[in-house]
Amino acid sequence: MAKIAIMGLGVVGGGTADLLTENRERLRKSCGEYLDLKYVLDVRDLPESPYRDLIVHDISAIVNDPEVSVVAETIGGLHPAYDYTVALLSAGKSVVTSNKQLVSEHGAELLALAKAHGCRYLFEASTGGGIPVIGPISRDLSGNEFSEISGILNGTTNYILTRMKGGGVGFETALSEAQKKGYAERDPSADVEGVDACRKIAILAATAFGKLIPPSRIHTEGITAIRQSDVAAAASVHAAVKLLGRAIRRGGECFVLVAPFFVPDDSPLSHVDGVYNAISVTGNYVGDVTFYGRGAGAKATASAVVSDLIAATAGGGVSPVWETADEGFPTEFGTFSCPRYLAFSGVDRNAVRVVFGEVEFIRGAEGEVACLTPNMTERECADAIARLTVGGGQLLSAIRVYESGDRPEA
Ligand code: HSE
Repeated sequence: MAKIAIMGLGVVGGGTADLLTENRERLRKSCGEYLDLKYVLDVRDLPESPYRDLIVHDISAIVNDPEVSVVAETIGGLHPAYDYTVALLSAGKSVVTSNKQLVSEHGAELLALAKAHGCRYLFEASTGGGIPVIGPISRDLSGNEFSEISGILNGTTNYILTRMKGGGVGFETALSEAQKKGYAERDPSADVEGVDACRKIAILAATAFGKLIPPSRIHTEGITAIRQSDVAAAASVHAAVKLLGRAIRRGGECFVLVAPFFVPDDSPLSHVDGVYNAISVTGNYVGDVTFYGRGAGAKATASAVVSDLIAATAGGGVSPVWETADEGFPTEFGTFSCPRYLAFSGVDRNAVRVVFGEVEFIRGAEGEVACLTPNMTERECADAIARLTVGGGQLLSAIRVYESGDRPEA
């Protein structure tokens, strides 16, 4: 019988404890032995919890127990999660985690520590909730060179954008619905400002490219500036506004970013609605593969935590080695190129054409000029917008248009 500990009995930790209890027999079949929950580390006593008898407050109870060889970290945040993880890995105990902040900021160091102590650091639950994506990229698709990973990585913002597209519900109402359903982070700015998706794309990019880019160096935009008229403009050209995390390799360049995009209806990502997440991966042999499922919530995320508990207990799971990205990686963002949707007031179509060249004008809100530009770099676009605003125009919206990555030859 394998003895397990959970650190942090919040939403994900509680779901993990429930899954271990409810699917106990099923897990024995998967694992070859029972997974027995021995400790739950929490700052609270939780007298109402069914797991109250397992509560400990001091990490040393787990670190010093030779019976426990695998621990789930579902505390979240950097501290004390980092300190506890270091103590456990240093003691040769494998740690599985849902903590995207910790993995995105300290993953390279923690993976090296696990390797040095002959244990594992697994993080399937940190990205995409219940969707198996880290394992498949690192194991099942590992023969490929990846040119792109793009995904809808945040359920809260996807829920909000879906409700805005459905009509009738404003940003604030949709956000508070998402919070009530338990999708949003405690501080929803991490969701709506793109910070949560940034951490996840950092993890995915490292999984695909082997280099962990500090989240502070990833260009990140959220959805707070998205207007209902932008969502309607997207629909008028058969697209949906989606917050995407993207990691792209083109020739010698690599771009990693989080931003809202117009996603054309012919992409599977455009049809991912509500709290669901999806991640599309392009490999040079496999082509495009898309993973879809619940990206948040206690049960779905617990499913991923427990899959790593099983892998770690059985001595499996891919625990890679990551480098920390140097200054030249990713490529300087000013050279990133894509088409744009732009909406202006205070200008006419002619003025837009003079500055941006051959644009396609589309249906915008009353009194606005809306268009789709050809491919432009970040720098070219900023310069053109500046010229137009000097001439009296006001930029109301600027949203990049998604074009999926390189395709292998058919
Ligand atoms: N707040 C996150 C989301 C939870 O909405 O996707 C899962 O990481």
